[in-house]
Amino acid sequence: MRARLLAIVAVVALASTVVVVASARTTANGLPSYTDGWQKWPRINKKPFRDTGPLSSAHSGVKNVYASKRKAGSKFPNGTVIVKTIVKPGTKYVGQFATMRKVNGRWRFIEYERSSATERYSLLAQGSLCTSCHVMAKSNDYVFTKR
Ligand code: HEC
Repeated sequence: MRARLLAIVAVVALASTVVVVASARTTANGLPSYTDGWQKWPRINKKPFRDTGPLSSAHSGVKNVYASKRKAGSKFPNGTVIVKTIVKPGTKYVGQFATMRKVNGRWRFIEYERSSATERYSLLAQGSLCTSCHVMAKSNDYVFTKR
């Protein structure tokens, strides 16, 4: 009986480990699962927009920005995910998907792209390339877009 109970405990522990690992995995569309549901997150830009200035050319097209959590004071809380969808000129689907995710007080930047509405996304760029420019929005927690 005792052994059986231990076996059940072990299975439950294993199951929860698997869930934790899976949460950082990519989903069928090639995007990380932490971006799931972005379509329902509050949009932080007023209207879909094109380029906002010279820096903006890093992401060219018609854009929208969504944040999974609200800013608390001057900063976004840990766990916040911000996505920017980009419909590239001459296309009608989201072709680039830029993400920022705050872990332990620091943003992780990753951008994905695809070349049709049905294709899986693949990695475009990430890391210091992104932060080197976003540092210019440091006073707004590295986020350029304001409501
Ligand atoms: C040369 C400057 C520059 C670089 C490099 C850059 N960005 Fe941005 N990013 C911007 C600007 C400016 C905006 C504001 C919206 C706009 O104009 O497109 C923005 C917006 C965003 C947003 C929406 C939140 C916000 O800050 O408004 C995300 C997410 C994002 N970028 C991710 C990335 C990722 C990931 C990379 C690297 C692959 C990257 N960016 C590289 C300039 C840059």
